[in-house]
Amino acid sequence: MSSFETKVREALASPQNQGEIPDADAVGTVGSPECGDMLRMWLKFTEKDGKRVIDRASFQAFGCQTAIAVASMATELLRGKTADEAKHLTAQELTGDLGPLPPMKIHCGQLVEGALRNALDQDASAIASSNPQASAMAPTLASSLQPSRSGSIRIVPID
Ligand code: FES
Repeated sequence: MSSFETKVREALASPQNQGEIPDADAVGTVGSPECGDMLRMWLKFTEKDGKRVIDRASFQAFGCQTAIAVASMATELLRGKTADEAKHLTAQELTGDLGPLPPMKIHCGQLVEGALRNALDQDASAIASSNPQASAMAPTLASSLQPSRSGSIRIVPID
């Protein structure tokens, strides 16, 4: 067994942050038309040292084991990050200790990245609607529907 498979197996033995955050500030749901898998991510923010940072992130996956392992790593990694810092994390960075994903599994990481981006977009829209000045900076619907920038796999937002 490769070290990647061993790490996925270890992550699956005790996946972190599974399940809904009932009072979440943002929820993102995406699906991969290629494999039919789906992933939903919840984000809860808090104020820390004058910055708005992610207090908790959680997920539910209807998908493969790699997506679950990556989501487990990613939701740990997101704690303490601002929305802007989180937005700049790539699928490969979100895999944490799992290391680089094998080529066949790259879209599994992109599913997690897509759910995170979808949640961050919804959070930005919610902030913009409570603060009209910020709405000029909010991502447009068209930009939130753009495919993930890495790779050719389509990850689509799901209502
Ligand atoms: Fe589809 Fe992993 S096989 S997300």
